[in-house]
Amino acid sequence: MSELVLTDEERATAGTRLVALLDRYERDLPDAQVLPAPDREQLTRLLADSLPDNGIGVDGLFDRLEDTILPSSTTVAHSRFLAYVLGPPNGVAAYAEAVAATINQNCNFWQLSPAASVVERAVLEWLASVVGFPASAKGILTGGGSLATVQAMATALADRVPGFRETGLQRPAPPLVVYTSVEAHRSVDKAAAILGIGLDHVRHIATDERNRLDVGALTAAIDADRRAGRQPWCVVATCGTVATGSVDPLDALADLCAEQELWLHVDGAYGGLFLLCEEMRELMGGAARADSISLDPHKLLFAPLEAGCLLVRDGAKLRAAYAFDSSYLTVAEDPLLTDYMDYGPQLSRNFKALKVWSALQVFGVDSFRAATRRTLELAQHFARGIEAVDGLTLLAPVTLTAVCFAVDGASRTEQTRLLERLAAENTALLGPVLLGGRHGLRACVTNHRTTTGDIDLILARLQEVVASRS
Ligand SMILES: Cc1ncc(COP(=O)(O)O)c(C=O)c1O
Repeated sequence: MSELVLTDEERATAGTRLVALLDRYERDLPDAQVLPAPDREQLTRLLADSLPDNGIGVDGLFDRLEDTILPSSTTVAHSRFLAYVLGPPNGVAAYAEAVAATINQNCNFWQLSPAASVVERAVLEWLASVVGFPASAKGILTGGGSLATVQAMATALADRVPGFRETGLQRPAPPLVVYTSVEAHRSVDKAAAILGIGLDHVRHIATDERNRLDVGALTAAIDADRRAGRQPWCVVATCGTVATGSVDPLDALADLCAEQELWLHVDGAYGGLFLLCEEMRELMGGAARADSISLDPHKLLFAPLEAGCLLVRDGAKLRAAYAFDSSYLTVAEDPLLTDYMDYGPQLSRNFKALKVWSALQVFGVDSFRAATRRTLELAQHFARGIEAVDGLTLLAPVTLTAVCFAVDGASRTEQTRLLERLAAENTALLGPVLLGGRHGLRACVTNHRTTTGDIDLILARLQEVVASRS
């Protein structure tokens, strides 16, 4: 028997310890420190350990997890974790992840993962229906929204640049230009840099008073590039900008991209899945007209990291960008089953779809709709609370769940200290924001555990802080 298999007794121990750990973690959450100070001594000791020749066994491992790993881990599941765009995992996440690791399906070609291939396809078809994409759409689950955007832009290169697979960008041709807004996520710049477009060819277009890409300014920039002999190629619109949650005018951008023959990618990493709520369709329904969209189930579907998603309206274009023949990997084509190696850059891939699918099975999509809707309502509640406090100013309209505000008259340093203080006293973990040259604080309610009581507690503390300044 392999040394790397647990005995019956060890399996029982591992099961008991795991169940106890998960149970204690859940019960202790309300009193947990949202941002525990890392235990530097313990962490330094981790680095000092040499490669262990002999194992410490299952009990030894769980002891180490409990005394070294958990205490220095950020409590993302805390109900007042409101920083960045990151939610706590849903309740069935840990179990689905354990099963995925146990069966270890390789989601590259279907022979190594038949059920997984169909589960991923089902999840992608559900997500495509949420966006409103046609039946021709295809997609792939990714490591997150950033990678989905890289993969989308690579698809756009393959589709729009003749001979791209053979010669890449290594031939004389007018430089390609990509357009996005000044509020776009840095992942757009990163994708352009990685793919050889170059940051000099990313236009950050001005936004309007609601932080949405200004279509007039975009049109002028496209015209200027054409006149200068460059080749406008792609627009990356944002459905939920990272700072304020603003949604670019997707319909107008779809019209412009059709007219100008540009690829339209929608970065829906933060906002796209709000389309689960029917009432958001008016604001973001234009996403259905994009050539591609990225979504992040590890945000609004509260899947544990990582679960991003790329959907391409004409699925044949996604396959054309990524499919390669390889004699050693070929299995007979089967219309039921998909070889995901032909839809993205990875060969070996884990079974990300299982955790998304399992949560939808356990809770049903209505529960996710309700949780998502609640985060929208809580953000509005937070914003009203900020507006009611003399000495606090809302920095931007609240479109989704990001609430940006400033303490009047406070410097950047003072507000950074306030953020640190709120975290240290366990009021909440909020993030910093810079908007229109003004520094402030940002709460992003991407958290299905947050309650009105949590928001009121934060507001009351902010009110005290402001009062103590005057
Ligand atoms: C608008 C937007 N785009 C892209 C990303 C990057 O997504 P990920 O962290 O999944 O790579 C984020 C992350 O918050 C985001 O808010």
